[in-house]
Amino acid sequence: MDQEKVIVVDFGGQYNQLVARRVRECNVYCEIYSYRTDLEKIKAMKPKGIILTGGPNSCYNEDSPTYGKELFELGIPVLGLCYGAQLMMHILGGIVKGAPVREYGKTEVFVNTETALFENVSPKTVCWMSHNDYIERVAEGFEITAHTADCPVAAAENVEKGLYLIQFHPEVLHTDEGTKMIFNFVRKVCGCKGSWRMDSFVEDSIQMIRAKVGGGRALCALSGGVDSSVAAVLLSKAIGNQLTCVFVDHGLLRKDEGDEVEAVFGANGAYELNFIRVNAQERFYRKLEGITEPEEKRKIIGEEFIRVFEEEAKKIGTVDFLVQGTIYPDVVESGLGGESAVIKSHHNVGGLPDCVDFKEIVEPLRNLFKDEVRKAGLELGIPEHLVFRQPFPGPGLGIRIIGDVTAEKVRIVQDADAIYREEIAKAGLDKSIGQYFAALTNLRSVGVMGDERTYDYAVALRAVNTVDFMTAEAVEIPYAVLQKVMGRIINEVNGVNRVVYDLTSKPPGTIEFE
Ligand code: XMP
Repeated sequence: MDQEKVIVVDFGGQYNQLVARRVRECNVYCEIYSYRTDLEKIKAMKPKGIILTGGPNSCYNEDSPTYGKELFELGIPVLGLCYGAQLMMHILGGIVKGAPVREYGKTEVFVNTETALFENVSPKTVCWMSHNDYIERVAEGFEITAHTADCPVAAAENVEKGLYLIQFHPEVLHTDEGTKMIFNFVRKVCGCKGSWRMDSFVEDSIQMIRAKVGGGRALCALSGGVDSSVAAVLLSKAIGNQLTCVFVDHGLLRKDEGDEVEAVFGANGAYELNFIRVNAQERFYRKLEGITEPEEKRKIIGEEFIRVFEEEAKKIGTVDFLVQGTIYPDVVESGLGGESAVIKSHHNVGGLPDCVDFKEIVEPLRNLFKDEVRKAGLELGIPEHLVFRQPFPGPGLGIRIIGDVTAEKVRIVQDADAIYREEIAKAGLDKSIGQYFAALTNLRSVGVMGDERTYDYAVALRAVNTVDFMTAEAVEIPYAVLQKVMGRIINEVNGVNRVVYDLTSKPPGTIEFE
């Protein structure tokens, strides 16, 4: 399949993934590669366009990331953004220097709307600037196409050579008309037709999986989360009951979640696959007995999960393929795609450990962003409550209970969380809040209920909005809703006599409460 493609060359900018997402929003397929990627490799991919990202360095420093001049001589349109713009000028003979006035934040920019990049953009528009260096003089053959009060070269182009640069960040939503600019580049300048669509992704993937797996057997660790659910359904549509899904219920799931997953994927569900549910609750509780340190809990849960999965896999015998719900941000964040530092280590990119006997890994979602995975899920007919599920950590409620974990505490946090979710939905807030849940503080305090003294636990409610999960703000939930939740939790959940709302943002807090 010869898909038209735009390549993002990553110079370590924090918005690298956003660039690729915006391109895909224009229905153009896009992949991210480090600036260390060989020119020959880039050429071989036959991209319709190349975008250079921002980055934290100064391009005139000797050890800063750079690229060979030949990149600009391929006859393929190139768009440089921020650092990418400066680098393009630096390499082609312009002058880049420390700016007399550094720009950061929303800035008014004046653009030449006669140019292809700014077609249909307002002459005066708002952009997101974040730079210390600036382009003092463009290279020969370039025309300046935008400026701000402090930045003489906010954009420039050499139409003949197909080279474009933008000093600001059209990929972030703070740039009001940024999406139009990216659309103009990929669809008009590069001439992409825009045929990348989810329905074609689903169809193509099914064909590809069939070709790869043939008559072989595949095994999938299903968590009920969006990624593994979509991966499992895709595989089931492609190879039916050549697929076995193992669902480990570690007793740290939200209320009734185990049964919900079973209802969708189990024998009475809608899909053709072999579904094995392992009820390992007691086993996990035993392992967690007396353990209070959060990292230690995470480790124990992770290791035990692998152990259980391994035992089940052994019962099945050798399988040919192991299915993983790896998605594109996992790949990029693990340092395999772009240039970003390894941010999270809890993603198993590249497979579960070698304890499972399999020949090859299948990662059908490896090239998709989260919102694309969700679209694929809807396309595949997966129920909305699974497709739009909130993020839920692998170690589950084990890390939403401060201190040691017991079956009793799990019951308390499950019940409190279920009430919280129900009331948030009733108040019509469930679609607008990014992530919300109840956690159990290890704090017990004195209360009074009826005429009785109580000495019970405090439940903490958390609700945050976040764009990228790196930063988050606590949500201003209407007081009446919070009070309703508090009242119901105290009345309906035995063992709780206090409810607090966590106001902390991230940083300094984290989203989870562990
Ligand atoms: P924190 O607590 O680090 O969470 O601010 C950021 C986001 O990551 C989720 N999270 C996890 N997801 N396995 C996961 O799959 C984990 O171990 C894990 N820990 C945190 C968290 O729910 C939030 O969305």
